[in-house]
Amino acid sequence: MIIKRFSSVDELYAQAVATIVEAKQNGATTFGLATGGTMEPLYAKICKTDIDFSDCTSFNLDEYVGLEATHEQSYAYYMNKHLFHQKPFQASYLPNGLAADPLEEAARYEALLQQHSLDFQLLGIGQNGHIGFNEPGTPFDSLTHLVTLEESTRQANARFFSSIDEVPTHAYTMGIQSIMRAKCILLIAVGETKRDVLQRVLALDYTEDVPASALSKHPNVIILTDLQEEENK
Ligand code: GLP
Repeated sequence: MIIKRFSSVDELYAQAVATIVEAKQNGATTFGLATGGTMEPLYAKICKTDIDFSDCTSFNLDEYVGLEATHEQSYAYYMNKHLFHQKPFQASYLPNGLAADPLEEAARYEALLQQHSLDFQLLGIGQNGHIGFNEPGTPFDSLTHLVTLEESTRQANARFFSSIDEVPTHAYTMGIQSIMRAKCILLIAVGETKRDVLQRVLALDYTEDVPASALSKHPNVIILTDLQEEENK
């Protein structure tokens, strides 16, 4: 894992854009995309560049169950609002939060992913170490599946909804194995709330209790953070 620390968040996101541009120049055409507050400045920066994704395919990591694509807090809506309206891809896929049969939907999404193989995966990280919506305890060999969200994850995401009661209780997420198949992974961790979990990931503490720790076994992971090492604080 390569870790790059930035004292300026703006420089961090500039580096993230540069990493994506470089991946594209090296032939990446299939991008795994993420949502969350961490990604908003990145997508805003991308929208100001001349990057062209019109020959690329995107797959989002996850989607809430029960929200239609027009719901302001669905990840489909988020992606259109922050990226796709200005930077359309040739094809963009997300799990369908309204699918009638959850098992079938997870299998459908996983099959699509396996047909395309991800060149590049963008990741944020939850305070409990979740990637996508793979909560602690998720097997490292998991594929796309339906999850029951942890109360702490619902609380952390409640800021985007008008009340905690509106935060869905379930979501679809790519599994950890689905994520680990990507050729290159870029994880962005911004802010003090991510300090403890980032430390555990960097300690190469390979444990299903911290889903992001699976990344320590991936050959091509870049982590960008604004968190400085403890001794430099
Ligand atoms: C959400 C998303 C994750 C994201 C994480 C962190 O639960 N499912 O993909 O990485 O939370 O979000 P934020 O960037 O808002 O801290």
